[in-house]
Parts: sequence; C-alpha cells; structure tokens
Amino acid sequence: MNRRSVVVGCGSYLPDRIVTNEELAQRVDTSDEWIQQRTGIRERRIAADDQKTSDLAIKAAQTALENASVRGEDVDLIVLATATPDETFPATATRVQAALEMSQGAAFDVQAVCTGFIYALNVADNFIRLGQANTVLVIGAETFSRILDWEDRTTCVLFGDGAGAIVLQGQDENGSEHPRGILSNHLHSDGRHHDCLYVDGGPSSTQTVGHLRMEGPEVFRHAVTNMASVLREALAANNMEPKDIDWLVPHQANKRILDSTARKLKLPAEKVVVSVDRHANTSAASIPLALSEAVEDGRIQQNNIVAMEAMGGGFTWGASLIRW
Ligand code: UT7
Repeated sequence: MNRRSVVVGCGSYLPDRIVTNEELAQRVDTSDEWIQQRTGIRERRIAADDQKTSDLAIKAAQTALENASVRGEDVDLIVLATATPDETFPATATRVQAALEMSQGAAFDVQAVCTGFIYALNVADNFIRLGQANTVLVIGAETFSRILDWEDRTTCVLFGDGAGAIVLQGQDENGSEHPRGILSNHLHSDGRHHDCLYVDGGPSSTQTVGHLRMEGPEVFRHAVTNMASVLREALAANNMEPKDIDWLVPHQANKRILDSTARKLKLPAEKVVVSVDRHANTSAASIPLALSEAVEDGRIQQNNIVAMEAMGGGFTWGASLIRW
C-alpha cells in the first residue's frame, strides 16, 4: 500500500524586533520608496543578539507540534533547512532535537539556501514513503541578519530572520482516488552560477563566517524563469494545470518575482500567498512562514492543492505539490 506524507500541523516564529525601511535608510543610502518599489518589502524581523537560529527553530517547532497534537518524543526525524546554522557543527537540528526531548530517531540539517525548505520536504517525504520514518518535523530557520554586510545597500535591505515548521505523518492511501499529502517534489541545481549568490567566507576557505554577496538582477532573471519552469514540471507530473492550484506559496524574495511568476503561469494574484512585505527574504524560512500564516487564517483548507516553489544560491531551485 502506498504511503503518503500528510501535513498534520504548522507553526512559525518571528523575532520581536521590527526593522522598518526608514530605519535602514538611516544606516545606508536607501529609501523606503526604493525598497518598496523594487521589492515590495516594508519591514523585516531581526533576531535579538542572544537569539540563535536554533532558538527560532525550537519555537516554530513547538507551535507546529502543538497544532498537530504530537509530542516531541513521538517525532522520529527532524530535517532542518538552514544556511545560517548556530555553529559549523553539529547540525542545528540536533539542538532542536534536544530541546524537544526527542531521544529517538535522527536529526540533521539540509543546505540549499532559499530552496532549503523544498529540499528538506523532499528528503522527509522520501523517508516517510520508504517507511524509514513516520512522524517528521521539517523546519526552515534562518538568522540571515548575521551574514549580511550592513554597509552594502544592495543586499542588507532584502533579508530578515524567522522560522517555520511543519509536522508530516505517514498515512496509507487506502485506495482513495485523491489521496491527501505530498504529491511530488522536484529539485534542481546548477553549480555554475555560484558567483551570482554566495557567502564570501566559511570554515575551509577563510575560517570566517563571511558576508552574503549577490548579483541581484542576474538572480532575478533566473528566479522568474526557473520557478515558473519547475512549477510547470510539478503540474505536468500530476496531470494538472495552473488552474488546479488553489494556493501558490512561493519563496518570498521579491514581490516583483512573485508577480512575474504568477503572470507567466496565468495564475490570479489572489491565489498567491504573500508575506515578503512584512518578513522580507527569510531564505529557507520563508515558505513555512507564509504557509503557517495561510493555514492559521483559514485560507488553506483540507484537500486544497497547494504549490510551493523556491530558488536560491547554488543555484538551487525546486517545487512541491501537496493535496492539503
Ligand atoms: O532568495 C534568493 C534569491 N534572491 C532573489 O531572488 C533576489 C533577486 N533580485 C532582486 O530582487 C532585485 O534584483 C534587487 C531587489 C536585488 C534589485 O532590484 P533591481 O530592480 O534589479 O535593481 P538594480 O540592482 O538593477 O539597481 C538599480 C539601481 C542601481 O543604481 P544605478 O546603477 O541605476 O544608479 C543600484 O545601485 O538601484 C540602486 N540600488 C539602490 N538604491 C537605493 C540598489 N540597491 C539600492 C537600495 N536603495 N537599497
């Protein structure tokens, strides 16, 4: 009998501190008008000095478990997507594991930058389908504020901190014509584009943490093309068309990218879940943050077709389709 990974709960966490565009305009040569016009971002959350990626992840995970009525000790796998781990090692996921008093199973991190959540979801889904795990926490958590060059106006205005989590559980299809759960995942990467988006530090290169560097317009062009094409690939794999999508929950990098992708697929804007205006780009956390909001406020309902897509450094890109 086929196993499906069904989402049984979502949760998210945002640091308290709100940083507005006006506040940034006092630090670098920018303006609220420029940031809003070019990106749709109004504000972002920034973690407190003593808050680490794991602290945000733990809070999001606890809410997701509560909403799923699942105890931490019953989770048998944590897959945490982050490009800003607490430490070079061990995996930030093991910090979450300890905090949730989960003594069984396994916990590890996945690194695909802004596509991290889709990669983590795919890994978790494979574990469930193969029967290697049954109750899985998939987390996207980031403190990008720690790797920004706060003197570079072309990047420091774009990112924020946050975390989102979902709980997946394996369920048998039971012969249902339209089984709920993850329908398919589609991952891609192309390492030739390293220099368009990377961090200029790391343990084996500079022995420093480094700062994010990005050729924005080049990334923008690839983002629109790649996200539209991987979404088409996901729809084709399920004999679906754009009109079958109830909700598109894209990686939140730039409102103009969201609009262009939706236009390419002829998807009405009302079907796109947008949070970039308040969260900015939270990398691997952006999809589960947006997803949690749309579930919490009742937009996403059981049996809805939810499409997710992302693109990030590497380049990496991917999409997942879920019957909620
Ligand atoms: O999540 C991973 C994927 N990341 C992304 O998807 C990001 C993709 N890229 C983007 O979102 C956009 O390319 C940006 C928002 C980064 C930039 O927008 P753009 O419309 O592509 O602007 P641009 O880089 O072409 O810059 C236009 C002008 C330049 O000035 P000149 O050369 O025309 O005089 C920039 O120097 O805007 C200037 N500029 C700024 N001005 C005010 C760049 N950053 C700023 C700023 N404030 N913060």
